[in-house]
Amino acid sequence: MLNRRAFIKGALSAGFVLGSAATLNGCSGLTRKDFPAFQEINSQKATLDKTARTILYHAGLAPSGHNSQPWHVRIESSDSWMIEADAKRRLPCVDSQNRELMLSLGAFVENLSLAAGANGVGTDIQVIARDPHDRNVIRVVLHKDRPSDYPLQRIKKRRTVKHGHLPKEISAADIKGLSERIGNHLFYFPRGSNHAACMREAAVENYRVQARRDDAQQELVRWLRFNTRDAKQHRDGLTTHGMEILGFKGWMVRQFIQPEDFMKETYRQQGIDLIAQLAQEGGGWLVITSPGQTVANLIDTGRRFERMALLAREHRIGIHPMTQMLEEKSGLAQIAGFHGSGFFPQFVLRVGYLEKYPEPVSLRRPVDWFVTT
Ligand SMILES: Cc1cc2nc3c(=O)[nH]c(=O)nc-3n(C[C@H](O)[C@H](O)[C@H](O)COP(=O)(O)O)c2cc1C
Repeated sequence: MLNRRAFIKGALSAGFVLGSAATLNGCSGLTRKDFPAFQEINSQKATLDKTARTILYHAGLAPSGHNSQPWHVRIESSDSWMIEADAKRRLPCVDSQNRELMLSLGAFVENLSLAAGANGVGTDIQVIARDPHDRNVIRVVLHKDRPSDYPLQRIKKRRTVKHGHLPKEISAADIKGLSERIGNHLFYFPRGSNHAACMREAAVENYRVQARRDDAQQELVRWLRFNTRDAKQHRDGLTTHGMEILGFKGWMVRQFIQPEDFMKETYRQQGIDLIAQLAQEGGGWLVITSPGQTVANLIDTGRRFERMALLAREHRIGIHPMTQMLEEKSGLAQIAGFHGSGFFPQFVLRVGYLEKYPEPVSLRRPVDWFVTT
């Protein structure tokens, strides 16, 4: 006879795990609200003053691939901070060139600069790295300034949203609002357009290619944080909430599924099916390009992306990066075939209006864990 665990595991692998959107109260897994900002900021090392802790807390809320949080900050002096790439947090299988790592550091430093400004600290951002594998990437020089009126709530409330994108084109006014800081490096392809159809196909196809790569899937597994103990211990990676596996299904996964189970064919196929479904939804696609491929270009593009993402909630627009077509050779070859070699897409984002904007849930390491003084 099947025991309870084996039964539930069987039911899950029969294919009901990844698509849930309902929520269930209780037994709910760790989310951001379990680590309130005031507590996070106040519990940090006394060697950093409260303003520095506040700034670094907000910087650390930046997005990153697999929520790997690949940043480290070395406090050189009270007014000079070195932002380093944390080599242990690289994603060598899907991001061998550290392209996404540089974009994530760009997002980190944008948050840092905005949070500093709001706290009366001006920042001079100097990109030091010449190669995306360099350890020392950005020096931030700080000076006293008049506080800006940038609302820090935007940083606290930004999140990735994959489910619930409505099938409605994004208005010209909203695209204009979002593109303010990106100018002619942002392209919108409305649902229903030929280009959107092409992107949808490429997104699903390249996801499929990646899901079939054992090395890439193993790398994903390394960042899954399904049980509360792992989530608490690491405070990074992908929790069930972060993956939007909610309600009863989320509970089942937390109780009965091991990250390693994601190597199995059934889970890979469920992932592909979910992506195929999501890719049909929403208002279309945004692409953010850069003028070149230098480290400075990538950092700048990460900053612009973040500046845009911080506005998405006010426009009620969900943003879902779908990066596999920029990670897989097949996707890159297709893009080069269409656009030639002087075109540098850095973000491919599925976007859509949301009925209700969910709260941020992904976990972050405390400041002390990524700063050395
Ligand atoms: C460079 C980059 C690439 C990303 N690629 C993907 C992706 O392919 N699929 C996805 O679901 N999320 C992707 N994300 C979103 C991250 O998974 C997300 O930022 C992270 O889990 C933290 O969650 P949050 O954005 O809600 O804070 C990407 C984020 C960045 C910065």
